[in-house]
Amino acid sequence: MGVSVSVMRKLLVLLGILVIAGTAHAQDGAALYRTYCAICHEGPTADAQAPSREAMKRMTAERVLESLEKGSMRARVAERSRAQRRALAEYVSEKRLAADSGGLIPRSAFCNSTSAPSTNALAGPAWNGWGRGITNTRFQSAEAAEMTADDLSHLRLKWAFGFPGASSAGTQPVVAGGRLYIATAEGEMYVLDARTGCVHWTLEVEASIRSAITLEQRTNGELIAYFGDQAANVYAVDAKVGKVLWKVRVDEHPHAAITAAPQLYNGRLYVPVSSREESQVGDPRYPCCSFRGSIVALDATTGRRIWKTYTVSQTPGPTIKNSIGTQLYGPAGGAVWNTPTVDTKRNVLYVGTGNNFAPPSTEASDSLVAFDLNTGQVRWVHQVTENDIWNGSCRLPNREAAVCPEKDAPDFDFTGSPLLVDIGSGRQLIVVGNKSGVIFGFDPDDRGKIIWQRRVANGGSGGGVFWGSATDGVNIYAANADFLAADPGASGGMNVVELGTGRLVWSVPGAGCANRNPCKPSQAAAVTLIPGVVFSGTMDGRLRAYSTRDGKVLWEYNTAREFTTVNAVKANGGSMSNSGPAIVGGMLYVNSGYSHHGGILPGNVLLAFSKE
Ligand code: HEC
Repeated sequence: MGVSVSVMRKLLVLLGILVIAGTAHAQDGAALYRTYCAICHEGPTADAQAPSREAMKRMTAERVLESLEKGSMRARVAERSRAQRRALAEYVSEKRLAADSGGLIPRSAFCNSTSAPSTNALAGPAWNGWGRGITNTRFQSAEAAEMTADDLSHLRLKWAFGFPGASSAGTQPVVAGGRLYIATAEGEMYVLDARTGCVHWTLEVEASIRSAITLEQRTNGELIAYFGDQAANVYAVDAKVGKVLWKVRVDEHPHAAITAAPQLYNGRLYVPVSSREESQVGDPRYPCCSFRGSIVALDATTGRRIWKTYTVSQTPGPTIKNSIGTQLYGPAGGAVWNTPTVDTKRNVLYVGTGNNFAPPSTEASDSLVAFDLNTGQVRWVHQVTENDIWNGSCRLPNREAAVCPEKDAPDFDFTGSPLLVDIGSGRQLIVVGNKSGVIFGFDPDDRGKIIWQRRVANGGSGGGVFWGSATDGVNIYAANADFLAADPGASGGMNVVELGTGRLVWSVPGAGCANRNPCKPSQAAAVTLIPGVVFSGTMDGRLRAYSTRDGKVLWEYNTAREFTTVNAVKANGGSMSNSGPAIVGGMLYVNSGYSHHGGILPGNVLLAFSKE
């Protein structure tokens, strides 16, 4: 009798899992549980306070979801999509949830016309991909921007859009052919009418999306949207209707993620692979660390892999055991957090890399790296910070020296994309700042030799020059991401450095506190440039427009508040980070409410300003 009951239960469990796997967004709840939960909830490493698997089986799926979304387990799934949280709740409770209504937007939010996108969407004014082009300059010409410094005083909020059920907003808006393409950390992509904000279509994918969307107009007239998710999947989507054409996982590590946008060039996608394994390591039970950053080249038509090159060449292997006997691994790290920059003249691509996650240190971490476009072979590496082994345990009082040998490891990643610029007389430079607060000018013809360097910020784990700078071919515009805890009002600022010489052209301090609470004027978001104006957002939600001439603030808008939205979803702005505005055809699009990496004010709003 007992046997048959247990067999029965096993069958039911099996059935339950099969049913779950059959939903539209098939998720492997078991795999997610193993990666993000099991370490504390079962086995020899289980936390005495944590409910066991048996105890969680007795909970309702709703109760588990509540704990993941609003309760004590929230931080454990902060980077997971809504579909993944639901899969986890169903897996550990072994019960089904009611149908998901979190992502619903009212029918009235959809566009009335079912018109197809324009046949040549990329021919007109556009902001495509992360950096608006293969060299990531984040510069929009006067012609495409249709906006000048004189228009700023006439800027009006034209519409606001609320991302339903979202707790963060920070991916780069992309605009082409009168449509806006954007995605969220909840794992949803939206295609909106750029003028009115009505919805053309939406798509839910497996994991959170942090990357900008990159569009390709194929010769047969098809418009394709490419992006990556936080489970290291790359997608190609028919941008007319929102149908997934292919989906490819580019890295097998359970913590692998695509944070920056893949770069598209000549029929290939160059995908930067990163990982938050480094922040999982606050726990001595975690077998730190085995992720290696890489670039993966895919055939854009089929998703077929052409090459994959790791930034850490050695395969991670067992190293030593820590004080509680956990077997550790290394080398690891060298994550790629930025969109590659393509150099067509030298047939290479450049990225900056991040720190090592575990000992031993390697030679291509915290480096500028040049990869051959055809073969993926590393042409050269210029390491800027040696021996930077950093992970989430470094600043903890119970730091394990075996996991983090140096508690003051600086964590000087390259987060923003390198810029390839002409500096006259036929010479070029690769210019990029990093979390150390220094901007470097590297020589692409001399294996990345440093021609000049200029400090513009103090630097630090969450500071320095963060998500990205912009250039007009004369200067580089780099915001200051530093947060000065002892004097918050002195944080932030904007710096302009001459490309040819490394000379500081001007520098202005941050926005100050001006009675704001909370106050965090740090400027980690990527900046955006049009002729005469540079735009930059703060961690406390202020969008500032500076004159490129002298740094005078020409316009400022407070996004950290509630907005009435065109799609009738309750929405508020907050911290501005990661992406920067897209300025296209007389309109400025920006989102607000970034809740990762130093974000203090979560939000879910996309704002569209118009100059009339
Ligand atoms: C670092 C250890 C750790 C990890 C990782 C972890 N948990 Fe927990 N979990 C705990 C502890 C400790 C408690 C009990 C104390 C509390 O609620 O904070 C708990 C409580 C819970 C509860 C009960 C909460 C309540 O409201 O009673 C659920 C459900 C749960 N965890 C699910 C998960 C899921 C699902 C994951 C994976 C996404 C996960 N946990 C990851 C340590 C962890």
